[in-house]
Amino acid sequence: MPQIIDGKAIAAEVREGVAKDVAALIASHGLKPGLAVVLVGEDPASKVYVKNKGEQTVAAGMNSWEHKLPATATEAEILAIVQKLNNDPAVHGILVQLPLPKHVNAERVLNTIDPNKDVDGFHPVNVGRLWIGERTLVPCTPTGSVILAKKAAPSLAGMNAVVVGRSNIVGKPVAALLLKENCTVTIAHSRTRNLHDVVKGADLLIAAVGIPEMVRGDWVKPGAIVIDVGINRVPSANGKTKLVGDCNYDECAKVAGAITPVPGGVGPMTIACLLQNTVEAAKMQKGIK
Ligand code: GUN
Repeated sequence: MPQIIDGKAIAAEVREGVAKDVAALIASHGLKPGLAVVLVGEDPASKVYVKNKGEQTVAAGMNSWEHKLPATATEAEILAIVQKLNNDPAVHGILVQLPLPKHVNAERVLNTIDPNKDVDGFHPVNVGRLWIGERTLVPCTPTGSVILAKKAAPSLAGMNAVVVGRSNIVGKPVAALLLKENCTVTIAHSRTRNLHDVVKGADLLIAAVGIPEMVRGDWVKPGAIVIDVGINRVPSANGKTKLVGDCNYDECAKVAGAITPVPGGVGPMTIACLLQNTVEAAKMQKGIK
């Protein structure tokens, strides 16, 4: 049996740490970190995420604001809110929930967020800071994935890490983090030749490709650490839907040394890391180490 990496429990530990940091910041500097979330439209999954973010931000002792706009909001209206939040000293973190409606240029909106308040870590300035190793705000899902991998092996140094997926949100930033952990990093993707052979060389596999159960058991090196970032909704036998990852869990679990389940693996880590980033943003803005 592999080690099953319990993202739910580890996320709860991270949130406890954040709550302690918040209490300490309030006591030492009178600084209460605050996170503002902008939600445009009625996407049901986005509404659930935003509600959970708000509740967990408050539970950690921080200020939380939600700015809800209709799906018909113009880009100019969204940009005006972002600029107002940029200029508000009580707001330390800004997150614009994705996806945005099609008529809005998401890149322009994200690039308008003050990089020092960009708790998603998506702004080009933060992407650059991450790759050159400066203190920065790092995307949340990659941070959570590396925390989980380090629960299976406290040092990842020297491992062959294979990232499947090259998105700006997960694939590329997680590759930067693993390089910082002294892994030898391969970024593979849907066009990689002999993908299963590349994956088979991985001591640490990060699956973030968005294809349900693409990674099969015989792709996995015996004893490997498997971090499954995929969250795919597929039809299930009872006519409803179920969530599956990018790895076929039952097959991969037979071969892996450690594996994250879906759900209950990487998913819960994302908001926990967002809370951590909000504290980090507040500290960076005040010049606190
Ligand atoms: N929508 C789904 N995941 C994310 C995320 O990590 N950040 C933002 N801003 N929107 C999302």
